[in-house]
Amino acid sequence: MGNPVNILAIESSCDDTSAAVLSDGFLLSNVIASQKVHESYGGVVPELASRAHQQNIIPVVHEAIKQSGLAKEELSAIAFTRGPGLMGSLLVGTSFAKGLSLSLNIPLIEVNHLQAHILAHFIQTKGEEKENPQFPFLCLLVSGGNSQIVLVKSPRDMEIIGQTIDDAAGEAFDKCAKVMGLPYPGGPVIDKLAKEGNEKAFQFCKPQIPNYDYSFSGLKTSFLYLLRDELKKNPNFIEENKNDLCASLQYTVIDILMTKLRKAVKDLGINRVAVAGGVSANSALRAAFEDHAKRYKWTIHIPKFSYTTDNGAMVAIAGYFKYLDKEFCDISLPPFSRVEM
Ligand code: KG4
Repeated sequence: MGNPVNILAIESSCDDTSAAVLSDGFLLSNVIASQKVHESYGGVVPELASRAHQQNIIPVVHEAIKQSGLAKEELSAIAFTRGPGLMGSLLVGTSFAKGLSLSLNIPLIEVNHLQAHILAHFIQTKGEEKENPQFPFLCLLVSGGNSQIVLVKSPRDMEIIGQTIDDAAGEAFDKCAKVMGLPYPGGPVIDKLAKEGNEKAFQFCKPQIPNYDYSFSGLKTSFLYLLRDELKKNPNFIEENKNDLCASLQYTVIDILMTKLRKAVKDLGINRVAVAGGVSANSALRAAFEDHAKRYKWTIHIPKFSYTTDNGAMVAIAGYFKYLDKEFCDISLPPFSRVEM
């Protein structure tokens, strides 16, 4: 047996600064510094995010290496999120990764953030070994910035077969939460309040768009119009119906997501289905996956909660697959902000 492949990974695409160390596919450490500074603004403020990354990056990377029990000299390569994300945020992680790879004289590996979310399903933890998804499989990737159905043919070969033409699912949760006066990010709050609500209390419009694409802007408008009309009649409408509003909204978002996913499963004849991204933390979406597994005999893959939000571990596993193919990159490579896969 040769030396283990030890990957240090750095993630800084949005508002989480994270670093992880992975050894031969097994996670040794995963340190995440979340930025609370954005809460009072009701959304991520890019300039503040970059500044917080600058403050966090050294302690986070230092802690990840320390917790891994490895010496810097034992690292085989450095993986970093190249994009998509906020340019100022990406520049912090990217530049740091480049500098460290030069100083340690080890290869640099660029990672696509969206592919990393999907590959999080392959992270192994000692004592909790699990079966990896079999290729090909479908992955519903749902976050604050993306809603996609991805056909995953191999760790390096993925095809987006459907995606949102406007807002992402997480964005729909966050924006609707904002108009109800709920804190940011709205997704987890809606999830919690929905548990006590009636999901059939209100009906919202559902998009009629072809293929496997999604749209959530109509739902957002329909939600807004309901509030506007009802508030004219009763100024306490939101307060009195908060749980039902959250439950009905959540039900509609999940119905939209699962309807297209069922279509993809049926058309492609692939019943191995995974879910990834921030919205995959949603308890009702997870329950819908469990239900589909029983009802339609899907083999499902639901991520650990710690891998639903942005994290270095997912970047490390994506980097590990690239390392095995010796796919390294040059330090001249710039980050990219927009969706590519
Ligand atoms: O992947 P992610 O951490 O990063 C971005 O894409 O920004 O996803 C964040 C999104 C937010 O929109 C947040 O509201 C949503 O994931 N989210 C949830 C839940 N937890 C996070 N949405 C619904 N239910 C949840 N439990």
